[in-house]
Amino acid sequence: MVVLADRVETPGIETRPMLFDLSGVHKAYRTGKLEYPALTGVDLAIADGDMVAIVGPSASGKSTIMNMITGIDRPTSGSVVVDGQRIDQMSEEQLAIWRGRRVGVVFQFFQLLPTLTALENAMLPLDFSRRVPKHERAPLALHNLGLVGLADKAEPSSVGAVRRRAAACCDCAGARGGPAASGRG
Ligand SMILES: Nc1ncnc2c1ncn2[C@@H]1O[C@H](COP(=O)(O)OP(=O)(O)OP(=O)(O)O)[C@@H](O)[C@H]1O
Ligand SMILES: [Mg+2]
Repeated sequence: MVVLADRVETPGIETRPMLFDLSGVHKAYRTGKLEYPALTGVDLAIADGDMVAIVGPSASGKSTIMNMITGIDRPTSGSVVVDGQRIDQMSEEQLAIWRGRRVGVVFQFFQLLPTLTALENAMLPLDFSRRVPKHERAPLALHNLGLVGLADKAEPSSVGAVRRRAAACCDCAGARGGPAASGRG
């Protein structure tokens, strides 16, 4: 597995804070009596503003890393620091709150609720995170949809690109100002 990074080089010492900082991360999946080591000692530092792609063959651990840095799953050992916070030591409840407020993940299959309109989908993370007063959620969701050119769409389209934009709008809405990640799922 390879991590490709497009970093804006600054002469001299790197002064930007690390947004993601993984150290000695191991992840083993247990299936019955078998234990499969998916990650074996990953060290990875990604600075704020870096554009990074994690590439590698199937089963090399790309999704597992994405799950580690977004707090969807926790390492078996090692530390995961995101924006200065040790997320591998958080409880399930703390992690859920942190994810809702700080992280946006755009999944390959969008995770839009098909029975809801685009506006209702865009409002869901605002309802869950409760960071915005209730009466401001619909206007903000409309504004977010407008940013991705979907203000006039009552329903999420079946067209992939449109659904991806709607999903980006939804997944990042609860995490305004937080790090965002996109994955193949
Ligand atoms: N929940 C799980 N339980 C058991 N094994 C798992 C689990 N999730 C992943 N694995 C195993 O861990 C390894 C890494 O999986 P992972 O999904 O991170 O790979 P990947 O690089 O994202 O692959 P792909 O390109 O196919 O998406 C694989 O061998 C996979 O079978
Ligand atoms: Mg994967």
